[in-house]
Amino acid sequence: MLSPTSVKDALNQTAPVEQMLVQGWVRTRRDSKDFSFIELNDGSSLRNLQIIARDSLPNYATVQRLITGASIIVRGALVASQGKGQNWELVADELTIVGASDESYPLQKKGHTPEFLREIAHLRPRSNLFGCVFRVRSRLAFAIHQFFQERGFYYIHTPIITGSDCEGAGELFRVTSIDATNPPRKPDGSIDYTRDFFGRSTYLTVSGQLEAEAFASALTKVYTFGPTFRAENSNTSRHANEFWMIEPEMAFTDLQGNMDLAEEMVKYLIRDAREKCREELGLFAKFVDKELLSRLDFVIDRPFQRITYTEAIELLKKSGEKFEFPVEYELNLQSEHERWLTEKHFKCPVTVFNYPKKIKPFYMRLNDDNKTVTAMDLLVPGIGEIVGGSQREERLEVLEESMRRYKMDPKDYKWYLDLRRYGTVPHSGFGLGFERMLMFVTGVSNIRDVIPFARTPGSAEF
Ligand code: 4AD
Ligand code: MG
Repeated sequence: MLSPTSVKDALNQTAPVEQMLVQGWVRTRRDSKDFSFIELNDGSSLRNLQIIARDSLPNYATVQRLITGASIIVRGALVASQGKGQNWELVADELTIVGASDESYPLQKKGHTPEFLREIAHLRPRSNLFGCVFRVRSRLAFAIHQFFQERGFYYIHTPIITGSDCEGAGELFRVTSIDATNPPRKPDGSIDYTRDFFGRSTYLTVSGQLEAEAFASALTKVYTFGPTFRAENSNTSRHANEFWMIEPEMAFTDLQGNMDLAEEMVKYLIRDAREKCREELGLFAKFVDKELLSRLDFVIDRPFQRITYTEAIELLKKSGEKFEFPVEYELNLQSEHERWLTEKHFKCPVTVFNYPKKIKPFYMRLNDDNKTVTAMDLLVPGIGEIVGGSQREERLEVLEESMRRYKMDPKDYKWYLDLRRYGTVPHSGFGLGFERMLMFVTGVSNIRDVIPFARTPGSAEF
């Protein structure tokens, strides 16, 4: 039995092959005098393999009715192509129709808008654009593991169901098995979650950080890479309610080391994609974002800018720019502010650090000024924030004080505080939004188009 060759491998042959088996989906078919040309794609490459089906095939009549979207298996000889645009083509000795298609198949040869393709998210990976996006996504996921494994980090699987709200933003999806029509109630009438499945309130995690800190306090350098969930009602091109996050956590590391790692990682991933996804990036540069390649190369080559939050506020105030949202110390930087800094002012990625404690979560290390914490956000052109991180508060009393300020009960976080009781160390980490990284690398401007099936407010189809 001949084992199948991918379209990509078939196209990369260096010599003719007498017998080869390929399988995939028909992109187009057209008739010539005594044969049919079929463009076959199996998702292994942007390019199609041209199949020549001669009228001597016993099922030629059915082959002539093949239309876009049908699945076929072809056995034949790989020969040098006479035609333009390809080196090889496959002359079929046998062509099996596995699954027919019909005229209602929505992906036709003419280009479709990303908005239309979003509505057929189950079929869009068969398009050129989305085939490229999801091959890059796969490659970058691999490169992330490679980056950390090469540097002595251990991969930790932090829980998806958790009782804590790491970011303290209250954007949690509750996980419950309570019967909504007949919930157990406390005397005051409210729902008694101590009688829920886990004996307490539980949620889908917004971040694996707290648990990663426990493991960094044992294995020194760790990372998580998994799905995170936020019930935030922001309908923007950069927010999803389910997204993937990469979170390294390092013991014996301060904010400086943390910023260095984030910069090194972003550059590593871009370099990897430039090298390993040439065909895909070529397509994005042609159809999605003409400046993509020059921007990526520019980013790889130069050190990122670093400024404090206070400096950022000063620059924004002096900018003379009309912003929709106010620029004020102790207010969050909005996307428009972030983008002005990275796109207009520095024209390169910039890491902003030392934010006011008021606008950052409880776990960040308090600076000696008593006003700011060792937070850092990495901002990139076209997107804004792609990384958020910090050095963590390793001093027990300071951390307890911070929790109280956030109306958190230290008793609920005993395990987390234990890490400060037993062999505490300065430690740091960050979260890189995987989809935002993909947007940056591909130039694709909407987060819904870099995740297979997007979850956004009001939309969880598929
Ligand atoms: O800045 P965030 O909220 O940081 C944390 O969750 C920390 N606990 C991470 C850590 O220090 N271990 O999120 C980190 C990154 C953001 O910079 C952004 O890239 C991405 O996650 N992100 C989102 N991506 C898509 N949709 C959303 N709703 C996102 N929220 C955050
Ligand atoms: Mg953030």
